[in-house]
Amino acid sequence: MTTRKKLKFGAIIHGVGGNISAWRHPEIPADASVSLPFYVKAAQKAEEGLFDLVFIADGLYINEKSIPHFLNRFEPITILSALAAVTKKIGLVGTLSTSYSEPFTVARQFGSLDQISGGRAGWNVVTSPLEGSARNYGKTEHPSHDERYKIAEEYLEVARGLWDSWEDDAFVRDKASGVFFEPSKMHRLNHKGRYFSVEGPLNIARSEQGQPVIFQAGSSESGKSLAAKEADAVFTGQENLEEAKAFYRDVKDRAVGFGRSRDDIVILPGIGPIIGRTQEEAERKYEEIANLVSIDKALDYLGRFFDHHDFSQYPLDEPFPDIGDIGSNSFRSGTDKIKRDAREQGLTLREVALRAATPRGQFIGTPERIADLIQQWHEEEAADGFIIHSAFPSGLDDFVELVVPLLQARGLYRTEYEAETLRGNLGVPIPVNRHALARATV
Ligand SMILES: Cc1cc2nc3c(=O)[nH]c(=O)nc-3n(C[C@H](O)[C@H](O)[C@H](O)COP(=O)(O)O)c2cc1C
Repeated sequence: MTTRKKLKFGAIIHGVGGNISAWRHPEIPADASVSLPFYVKAAQKAEEGLFDLVFIADGLYINEKSIPHFLNRFEPITILSALAAVTKKIGLVGTLSTSYSEPFTVARQFGSLDQISGGRAGWNVVTSPLEGSARNYGKTEHPSHDERYKIAEEYLEVARGLWDSWEDDAFVRDKASGVFFEPSKMHRLNHKGRYFSVEGPLNIARSEQGQPVIFQAGSSESGKSLAAKEADAVFTGQENLEEAKAFYRDVKDRAVGFGRSRDDIVILPGIGPIIGRTQEEAERKYEEIANLVSIDKALDYLGRFFDHHDFSQYPLDEPFPDIGDIGSNSFRSGTDKIKRDAREQGLTLREVALRAATPRGQFIGTPERIADLIQQWHEEEAADGFIIHSAFPSGLDDFVELVVPLLQARGLYRTEYEAETLRGNLGVPIPVNRHALARATV
């Protein structure tokens, strides 16, 4: 058995929200997705709650059916750079696609964010699920699910190599002698692979945490393997304790299979706690949000997971339609699960759409109930911590002010940050520069 680390928390900041109609809720500023003050306030609130990180999701294709937040939102590295200047300790994790970018540019951007923030950057490596992304990047074809993961693997190898371009003491900056850097501590990558050809070196050095933290959010077989091999943290959607435990065990076992320790990778399911002084008050808050969602909007929301498939063509109150392979080249793990649940539980299209668009989850209730569930998931090895998404802004305030103190009193959560860097707080290893390591072991 390994010693359990204390709970880790991330806050996903997503403007007008992941719910397709939440922007209409009186509490939500309708321009939140492009409001710097909104993002600053949320990040500072999460830091007040000693969260490990804020998390910015992203996508590369929109249309008329996309949810309002997706239509008009900040690019992740840009907003995280602004947040770096108004926070001190909290990690800054942004989503960026390996299917539609170049490793030299992206390694440089995350390397810069890592330096700007003093070692607090993280990269959520995604492969982009939507076909339309290809049309925004001048490509004739969206790579297949399998190929996207092969690209991602080589991409990460390149990014990691570039981040080690400079040994940590390479920059001498000796004004008297005129020596700015030590040439033997600068390294070219000279990578020539199937997808990328990159000479290097990168024009930014390592930060205090060595390399940005790697997050992975795919849950298919390929997604789990990539996570187990390369990721420091996994953001995942798990509906119940049993599924979460199975996922947790699976990814940690795979990590051990790649020669890593179980503690080297942190598993963080996303949850959307809704907190009330009583259970009834919490249920009422859930209904306030859920009731805003019409069935037409719910069908649009569901359709996006299936690469914007048009579900309005099927009868609503008959069993979920047989749509064959649709979805398997986009959010594969998610669409496989939706199809499986519909079949096994005999759900109608209406039920499936409303479940997807107004997920209820278990984490609804009093602060004590939320704290009890978090404790249970942590103790039973279903999670190392959680990414908290709040349906409306006061949800994050409630979590920080009412749930965090309970978890602290139970000794499950920090009372101050342990470290200055994201790796330090998450308790994942700082990778030693490969060239320094080779030098030391000669
Ligand atoms: C919790 C969670 C969060 C995700 N966040 C993003 C995101 O912000 N941007 C994105 O393009 N894909 C996101 N994805 C999609 C995955 O990166 C992946 O493309 C998709 O799940 C399909 O891969 P899979 O079949 O391996 O799961 C997310 C997936 C999950 C489960």
